Amino acid sequence: MTDNPSEKMIETDIFKLISNRRSIRKFIDKDVPNEVIRKVLEAGFRAPFASQICSIVYTKDKEKMNNLKRMGVYPTSKLFMIFLIDFDRMTKIIKQSNYEYDYDDGMVLWLGVQDASLVAENIILAMEAMGLGSVLLGFAPLMADQIAEVFNIPSKAFPVVGLCAGYPDPDHLMDVRPRFPYEYSAFEDEYRDLSEEEIKSCMKAMDDGYITQGYYIKQNAKIPLKSGKDEIGFDKYSWSEHICRKITQGIRSKETLSEILRKKGFDM
Ligand SMILES: Cc1cc2nc3c(=O)[nH]c(=O)nc-3n(C[C@H](O)[C@H](O)[C@H](O)COP(=O)(O)O)c2cc1C
Repeated sequence: MTDNPSEKMIETDIFKLISNRRSIRKFIDKDVPNEVIRKVLEAGFRAPFASQICSIVYTKDKEKMNNLKRMGVYPTSKLFMIFLIDFDRMTKIIKQSNYEYDYDDGMVLWLGVQDASLVAENIILAMEAMGLGSVLLGFAPLMADQIAEVFNIPSKAFPVVGLCAGYPDPDHLMDVRPRFPYEYSAFEDEYRDLSEEEIKSCMKAMDDGYITQGYYIKQNAKIPLKSGKDEIGFDKYSWSEHICRKITQGIRSKETLSEILRKKGFDM
């Protein structure tokens, strides 16, 4: 720990920190000091790695934020990060070591997602410990071209996820979100095929929790149906309905992820 007030830890009990964490979507207008950014990023890179195929580009730059907004990326905070599968750097390492690449690009991407996800979670928790909040932005891979343009990212470096980060607005704190009941997610010794009743319990735990919190009403967020009249009002619209609409109504981007990856030089 340091004497610098901007580097003060706020929460040091790791279990408390993890169970109180929730995504933050409204931030106050307060700058995140550079030394805090560096500290949390360094904590990020202490995560276990498969191949260190992860880099981060971050910005506080107003013009870059505006460019991102113009392109349809919506950073809601004063600090924005992009977690990259960085196979560009690895390609250079292979070249300098006089080897020729011969591997499965699918596996390279998998390794990169594994590395980037662990780095991201370390950073999210390190930020929580310092009183910062964050929300991930999962659309990043589908906006690879726009993000590459703003941040000058080469082919073979590919965005996994974005992260908006900053000091939470205490007047707009979201509730801690429910999860599937433990016994339906953690299986000792062997996988358990869940019965229809157990699946119903999973859905109920999530749906009751979200409706009690008024989550979708507060966000005024409902995925529109592709066709037909929407009979489900906000009193019934909950997590199961939301996730089903998201996953069953087709990709909403112009190109599929495989097409975008091919364009960026990955052999899909
Ligand atoms: C990979 C990933 C992508 C996400 N993308 C988005 C996003 O684009 N927009 C958003 O508001 N939240 C996004 N989230 C946040 C989730 O909605 C949130 O984590 C989830 O609802 C659970 O809530 P909690 O983080 O408050 O526990 C994302 C989370 C993950 C892990």
